[in-house]
Amino acid sequence: MKKTLALALAVVMSLGLLAGCGGGNNSTGGGSSAGGSQPSGGSSVTASIPDAPEGGGTVGVCIYKFDDAFMTTYRNALTEILKGKGYQVTTVDGNNDQSKQNEQINTFITQGVDALIINPCMTSAADSIIATVKAANIPTVLINREPTADQMAAYDRLVYVGCDAAQSGTFQGELILETPNKGDINGDGKVSYIMIQGDPENIDAQLRTEYSVGALKDAGIEVEQLDLQRGDWDREKGQTICANDLAQFGDQIEVVFCNNDDMAIGALQSIQAAGRKVNEDIYLVGVDALDAALNEVMNGNMTGTVLNDAVGQATEAVNQMELLLGGATYSAGNQSVYVDYVKVTPDNASEFVK
Ligand code: BGC
Repeated sequence: MKKTLALALAVVMSLGLLAGCGGGNNSTGGGSSAGGSQPSGGSSVTASIPDAPEGGGTVGVCIYKFDDAFMTTYRNALTEILKGKGYQVTTVDGNNDQSKQNEQINTFITQGVDALIINPCMTSAADSIIATVKAANIPTVLINREPTADQMAAYDRLVYVGCDAAQSGTFQGELILETPNKGDINGDGKVSYIMIQGDPENIDAQLRTEYSVGALKDAGIEVEQLDLQRGDWDREKGQTICANDLAQFGDQIEVVFCNNDDMAIGALQSIQAAGRKVNEDIYLVGVDALDAALNEVMNGNMTGTVLNDAVGQATEAVNQMELLLGGATYSAGNQSVYVDYVKVTPDNASEFVK
């Protein structure tokens, strides 16, 4: 279906407006959800609208694995928003297997979907995913696992929607700095911590690990890493790593940094099993603001967490998909759109319960 010229002009004008109110606070050129879309300045938006569906269309959604607590919330939000707007949505589970996901992407292309929303299984597969969707000329929104700007530059009908992972790490560090003893529970002049990392292939895991501790160092605090282990975003792994570390390092551990809440909830089980008390003799922080974690923050069993806004990101992903369907193209360096993280403490946790 071809849209009318009038609609094309309206799209161009609205994109021009959006570009005008962009100007986010990040280096990759995206913005916050409040005015976050940053198509390439309106000027490169094509006036002829390629097959934009009227009153809905078909969307293929690829999730890296359904069995991920945060991505379950995200996936549900995405499906609800898309269906609410009249799109026909098919959502598939990549089972954390990139070759399986590649087949799913090819199947969606063969079926002739109007747009794709993809949460890659492996960030390292970004080049081949981008080459595939480009060859098929399918408007594509990547979510949750951010490729590099150079990788995205290969295709101008592609945009990434996510968050600035460094910000969530900084917020975790600040949560520790805001405690009465700034994390130095035993008063020995340094903060001794363990780091339970997500999948280290993922930029979220890398930057949260770096920036959480970086915030302490920037505040002039001496830090000591007792252990760093990959927990792959998984609750059970978080529990096992924390149990082993508590057995090995005992009271030396003052802070447990977890790259996400699911691992923090696992860690909490081990902390409680070891007879330790969060906020009294150990601190514990996560990221995501899963409902279970918000409850623990309110109960004093987690020091804090960071809202990873699944609904905000799903809303922005659909918004960007519609801009692409309307003919928007993106210039190199302007292909990341960020939604802000929010620091969550016992004071504001109740605001985020769904
Ligand atoms: C979330 C994790 C999730 C991961 C999946 C991260 O942004 O914080 O909970 O497991 O994305 O890629």
